[in-house]
Amino acid sequence: MQETYFMIKPEIVAAGDQKIGAILAMVNASGFRIVDLALRRLDRSLVETFYGEHRGKPFYDSLVAYICSGPVVCARLAREDAASRLRELIGATDPAKAATGTIRFLYGKSLSYNAVHASANPEDAARELALIFGR
Ligand code: PPS
Repeated sequence: MQETYFMIKPEIVAAGDQKIGAILAMVNASGFRIVDLALRRLDRSLVETFYGEHRGKPFYDSLVAYICSGPVVCARLAREDAASRLRELIGATDPAKAATGTIRFLYGKSLSYNAVHASANPEDAARELALIFGR
């Protein structure tokens, strides 16, 4: 069993509980177990560290400001091959390129407002889970 990090971004949380519930139901239906779940407003220094690999890119400042702009849903998910399976379920970073039926296809608006985040691989998952949940 592998664990990965999943995050529902501020524009979805701001839109209300129905979208949060629908997205978590998709995650559950795909065989993931929700191990930890929290609705949190992340502080700026944590978000800067979280997205540290993108520091210096043109979108970095607006990405950090956006993720800090309101509460997000933070989840620790478990299943076999969790990181790669979750990336499949959420779809491509750009919702316009995401496969039909994926979370970003259904709920993403743009590259910047793409509804959800999922760790890219098991190493990133361990780093992101430790940052958000402290272990
Ligand atoms: S990676 O590491 O290359 O896989 O990163 P990627 O999947 O491209 O994710 C980039 C994250 O930055 C957010 N973002 C943008 N990316 C590209 N271009 C623009 N303009 C942009 N604005 C924001 C994008 O939503 C990705 O966030 P996460 O949370 O990782 O999905």
